[in-house]
Amino acid sequence: MKLDVEAVRACYPALADGYAYLDGAAGTQVPTAVIEAISQAQARGLGNAGGAFPASKRADEITTASRAAVAALIGGHPDGVIFGTSMTALTYRVAGALAKNWRPGDEVVVSQLDHDANVRPWVQAAERGGATVRWAVVDPETGELPAAQYEDLITDRTRLVALTAASNVIGTRPDVPAIAARARAAGALTYVDGVHATPHMPVDIGAMGADFYATSAYKWSGPHIGIVAGDPALLDGLHPDKLVPSPNAVPERFELGTPPFASLAGVTAAVEHLAALAYPAEGSGDQSLRDRLLASMTAVERHEQELFEVMHAGLDSMPHVQTYGRAASRTATAYFTVAGRSPAEVAEHLASRKVNVWNGHNYAWELTGVLGIRDTGSAVRAGLVHYNDHDDVERLLTGVAELG
Ligand SMILES: Cc1ncc(COP(=O)(O)O)c(C=O)c1O
Repeated sequence: MKLDVEAVRACYPALADGYAYLDGAAGTQVPTAVIEAISQAQARGLGNAGGAFPASKRADEITTASRAAVAALIGGHPDGVIFGTSMTALTYRVAGALAKNWRPGDEVVVSQLDHDANVRPWVQAAERGGATVRWAVVDPETGELPAAQYEDLITDRTRLVALTAASNVIGTRPDVPAIAARARAAGALTYVDGVHATPHMPVDIGAMGADFYATSAYKWSGPHIGIVAGDPALLDGLHPDKLVPSPNAVPERFELGTPPFASLAGVTAAVEHLAALAYPAEGSGDQSLRDRLLASMTAVERHEQELFEVMHAGLDSMPHVQTYGRAASRTATAYFTVAGRSPAEVAEHLASRKVNVWNGHNYAWELTGVLGIRDTGSAVRAGLVHYNDHDDVERLLTGVAELG
């Protein structure tokens, strides 16, 4: 199944502005179906949750549907899908709940590859509980996070391993199943940051061995909603701080305040949009949502990797460009510097050519330190998602070539 990129692009009104949107790693654009789902939810009338009247029942239905949609996207259980304002907020929340049981002598393993949102909440929670933090290191030459080091890092004192499924700057995809299996054998939990990974590949949190999997809908064509999914039975054993009268059931126990119902309608629409990338509605037959998602995300991954080969080879062929990351398995995310220009200048120049890229550490705080570029403006990030095409790549390469 091949992606019809022109048809995909036509779903996104924002792409008509003539810019090459290579900033998807910081947030994707939104298709018409998502915009309409959000506005229709509002237009039909929404009440708060749990009421006797139809507008309230619609809100409940929206929430239930959005949990099921996310579960289908990642291979999880709907009752284990927690929504929040952002992955960062939810990770602090889960860290706070888990750390209630941490004691001095307990250990937590974090990695240099991760976005700081999957580092600092654990480091700070460990500090409060007196637990010890151990670091998995990145090979700065390749950008790999070798799984073998976890043999020693994980001990029978390890309570939690926090690990990304893909780096948000250099795209490295570590061997999560191997590391999670090692953690499980030692009796530790694994918290996988799937925020960067989710839009680029089929996800199966069971096969990964993730006890918790975090993702953010705004990275995959949805609204600004954070998500953490886990086994409902595991969640039931955790007790985050909450108001006395707020629901104690799982997953509501983890959600603070009134949910953003209209946005949740947008989450469901975003998942359905992804499912239709490879199987438009009329061609879906009796395939389940999960099966259509797996087919779509496989096609997305292939499309992005094909374009990425062209993009990365183009960048690598320019003598004035240095690229970072050589991992064997990585998402279509390029991170590079240009000789004699700061990353901010490169981004400004590309913006003048109507090419959107990010510059800076992008919160890959430890990694940019390891790469030795954090204090010099870090680098430029150009990332591909399903709606990018050859023209976007050519325009990036032309713009960067002009700086040589
Ligand atoms: C890999 C990764 N993890 C975590 C985050 C934080 O997500 P949120 O903005 O939902 O807090 C980001 C955001 O860019 C990210 O790329």
